[in-house]
Amino acid sequence: SGLITLDPGFKNTGSTKSAITFLDGEKGILRYRGYNIEDLAAKSNFLEVSYLLIYGELPTQEQYDQFKQEITYHTLVHEDIKKMLDGFPSVAHPMGVLSSLICSLTAFYPTSLDPNRTEEEIKMSIVRLMAKMPTFAAWAYKNKMGHPVNYPDNKLDYCSNFLHMMFALPSEQYEVDPVIAKALDQLLILHADHEQNCSTSTVRIVGSSQASIYASISAGINALWGPLHGGANQSVIEMLEAIKADGGDTKRYLDKAKDKNDPFRLMGFGHRVYKNFDPRAKIIKKAADDVLNKLGVNDPVLDIAKELEEAALNDQYFVDRKLYPNVDFYSGIIYRALGIPTDMFTVMFALGRLPGWIAQWKEMRENNEPIGRPRQVYTGANERSYTSMNDR
Ligand code: CMC
Repeated sequence: SGLITLDPGFKNTGSTKSAITFLDGEKGILRYRGYNIEDLAAKSNFLEVSYLLIYGELPTQEQYDQFKQEITYHTLVHEDIKKMLDGFPSVAHPMGVLSSLICSLTAFYPTSLDPNRTEEEIKMSIVRLMAKMPTFAAWAYKNKMGHPVNYPDNKLDYCSNFLHMMFALPSEQYEVDPVIAKALDQLLILHADHEQNCSTSTVRIVGSSQASIYASISAGINALWGPLHGGANQSVIEMLEAIKADGGDTKRYLDKAKDKNDPFRLMGFGHRVYKNFDPRAKIIKKAADDVLNKLGVNDPVLDIAKELEEAALNDQYFVDRKLYPNVDFYSGIIYRALGIPTDMFTVMFALGRLPGWIAQWKEMRENNEPIGRPRQVYTGANERSYTSMNDR
């Protein structure tokens, strides 16, 4: 079988060639299709960035209008999906609900299962995913709250419609705060793609077996859920709250993070690829300040975060290991200010990452990539004979 190179965690293994996202971890550069993340975050919007990631170029006005119109038109979901939602207990984590509802689209659109799916079918799957994911995400929250769901309002833009489905109450007039909608849009842009991370590799590898795009994206959502990946944004806030409740002694927690006998890690710190700084974290830190100022929110957890960052950046342990705040260190603070509850944070990440997953799935397919199938080095027992139950 030839010589097998072991690389646990694929720290140094390229799984594909890709033309979507460029990342230089040493210099802290992130570009989607050649455009710097700083530029896109300041000047573009999430739907335009989604189009760019999926189709490779910034859309013309006409292409943008059509993309937006189609996505807006498909925001409604089959009523039977609501029955599935009703079956989940209210303690269900919204990430599990989201991945289940996304996977259920295979049942409602079975043509997506055909390996010889047409280009039109693929285009429609992309539209449906982009359109229905905010509906599912908001409904997962409503299920948790035990509240009736809100149906999409197609007069609203992508982020405002999501906020409406999350927060509008039947008895009150709900006006989306443009500051909140804009902040959300920017956060989604920053999360939209990040080359071959755990969830994206999952989407590509599931897709490489020619499974449905809905099943592939659902698998990506599950991969994102873990606390070392997208789930970190929830863990960061839980950690900051715990430090605050514990008297705000950041130094003690820093020591815990450095102690190799203590499983505690400083959540929101460190990154597999960024070894200088995470450019998304820079933008988010500033956005957190701006948003909290504009909304007039004073969050003591932000002070703890800043103190912790400052202490870690000046600590030899973190300096030696090139550990810097990552995208998730400050994102939760903004989500909190926008009124989004902690266990919805990773769902917000998934909403943002969706166009990246779609683009990567599409690229994998267009490149005719072979099925993903890593090898192993076997370390188990040598050949031995079966013993019957009585002889064991
Ligand atoms: N706190 C304390 N020590 C850490 C941390 C941390 N957050 N992160 C890494 N280290 C140490 C680690 O113990 C190891 O030390 P040593 O060399 O002495 O054994 C060294 O730094 C290298 O860490 P690693 O675990 O080998 O690095 P990795 O590339 O496998 O892991 C990581 C990257 C992001 C999983 C890790 O840094 C981590 O667990 N961070 C906290 C969780 C987190 O914030 N995740 C979000 C990542 S960004 C969003 C996303 O893309 O999902």
